[in-house]
Amino acid sequence: MENQEESGALTVDEQAEQGSALLAGMHRTVLRFSAIRALVAIGVPEQLREGPRSAADLADRCQADASALTRLLRTTASTGLMRTVAPGTYELTGAGQALLDGTELLRTRHSGNPEMWASLGELTETARTGRAPFLDRFGSTYNYLSTRPAGSAVFDALMTSLYESVAISLTQASVLPETGTIADIGGGKGTFLAAFLKAEPELRGVLLEMPRSVEVAREYLAEEGVADRAEVVAGDFFAAVPVGAQAYLLSHIIHNWSDKESADILRVVRSAIPADGRLLVVDMVLPDDDREHYAKDLDIRMLASFDGKERSEAEFAELLDSAGFRLDQVIDLDVAGECVIVASPVPAA
Ligand SMILES: C[S@@+](CC[C@H](N)C(=O)[O-])C[C@H]1O[C@@H](n2cnc3c(N)ncnc32)[C@H](O)[C@@H]1O
Repeated sequence: MENQEESGALTVDEQAEQGSALLAGMHRTVLRFSAIRALVAIGVPEQLREGPRSAADLADRCQADASALTRLLRTTASTGLMRTVAPGTYELTGAGQALLDGTELLRTRHSGNPEMWASLGELTETARTGRAPFLDRFGSTYNYLSTRPAGSAVFDALMTSLYESVAISLTQASVLPETGTIADIGGGKGTFLAAFLKAEPELRGVLLEMPRSVEVAREYLAEEGVADRAEVVAGDFFAAVPVGAQAYLLSHIIHNWSDKESADILRVVRSAIPADGRLLVVDMVLPDDDREHYAKDLDIRMLASFDGKERSEAEFAELLDSAGFRLDQVIDLDVAGECVIVASPVPAA
């Protein structure tokens, strides 16, 4: 299916067979991931950290039904993440260590929590109405996280795990100021700000976040040894952002919001940025053709539980223009499809 030329040599029936195989593979992936997600949710991998256990023992420890658990374990063992060491007894394989720590465990816990998971099943309704039912129930993903401390901590940790290397790549892109202050708007734990302050010893930073992440950000910036140059403020980027910084960072913010909401956020930044200030928007940029790109997959998450979307360069340019910015440059950060969009404020006419 990937190679157009090869598939061009096949008959339509043969191509349809390939399509069927592709769909069958996707369907099996969903079933297998559903099993793994359920095991993670009830804490099974953690119980296997020290070695093999029987399904009955695991059922006891995780308050689960032994028969249902056996079936979930059997399917997971067929993926290579676990193995059967004796009838009904399972252990994690080397590959299965990914279920104990790291980005994919965090992503499975976040994306697999009951409401986020259910929102993917509601895409049919979203397709009809254009709006995710998740938003009507919770307002926004961040309101949802604000009342769930455990989920909120998983989300913040996931952002750091996903984007630490993107932040380091950005420090090498020659777009950061060396002195003065950078304002990290919606900065999460401070993944980007910490990397910037470590790379630029004369730079100071201010991080604006919702109250849910303020303490977490203070702790993280202290752990990273940059707290003496970083201020963390609680606030709402729809209302106000710190005034007069040399540079403003909106990292993985704009893709969470509709064009209207994004323009509102950008206008707030526009009102705070000095005439010679620089805006840095970090997000993926959608390619204009049909090639595979993670932005197209993540866009489905944006549709299911955010009011946001991934955007092409032209869409970013139009959005920035609508809020008084000029798009100067798009730099590919060469990590996970991420880019930095560099923009400057356009003088008011
Ligand atoms: C996808 S995360 C990105 C975090 C960080 N900038 C990064 O790239 O890793 C979006 C962040 O925006 C914050 N946020 C959402 N709504 C906000 C608001 N109204 N005011 C301030 N921050 C907000 C969330 O709490 C969340 O940490």
